Amino acid sequence: MTRPHILIAAAALVAGSALSAAEGVSMDDPNIKVDYQEDGRYFTEDGVPTFNVAEDGTVDWPTFSGFRRYHAECHVCHGPDGEGSTYAPALKESAVEMDYYDFLDVVTNGRRKVGAAENSVMPAFGVNPNVMCYLDDIYTYLKAHGSGAIDRGRPAKKEAKSDVYAETENACMG
Ligand code: HEC
Repeated sequence: MTRPHILIAAAALVAGSALSAAEGVSMDDPNIKVDYQEDGRYFTEDGVPTFNVAEDGTVDWPTFSGFRRYHAECHVCHGPDGEGSTYAPALKESAVEMDYYDFLDVVTNGRRKVGAAENSVMPAFGVNPNVMCYLDDIYTYLKAHGSGAIDRGRPAKKEAKSDVYAETENACMG
């Protein structure tokens, strides 16, 4: 188990950087670290959605929303808390390791591994508003858990839903 990011995280620990104990993923990873905030949603320097967990454990609203949406739409196959199942991969790891746009693509268009059994299919959710309107939420929730920033289970404290979030949500859900 010498995955390169664990070694990098160990080096960061020596340097005294913020670290999650759970998975050894550095909070300074450019795919994770918050660069800016817009209307209650947080982004990396590349404009990829990410989570924000305050020191008292308060999570951003989209990440909290993602917890709920994940457990409504994905957990039957991928297991509670994105931990994976015998049937489908652990999405808490996928969200940390996969490119954001690849993640979106798989959920939108579905996927079946070449040569995989007939029943190992990731369905396409592209026309399901309960997934598509909350896809960034689901992604940041899984990334937060996969990097060890939040534990299993429902986050206890959350930021309020921003007005812009509510407007965007209503427009998306129709
Ligand atoms: C009916 C079962 C089922 C449901 C429901 C489901 N998935 Fe999947 N998903 C799978 C299977 C099976 C795979 C593996 C497919 C493969 O081998 O290509 C998969 C693969 C994925 C992958 C690729 C993971 C990787 O590491 O390569 C992502 C991302 C994903 N699913 C996201 C989601 C999200 C988000 C939801 C909820 C909106 C969801 N899935 C709901 C069965 C499901």
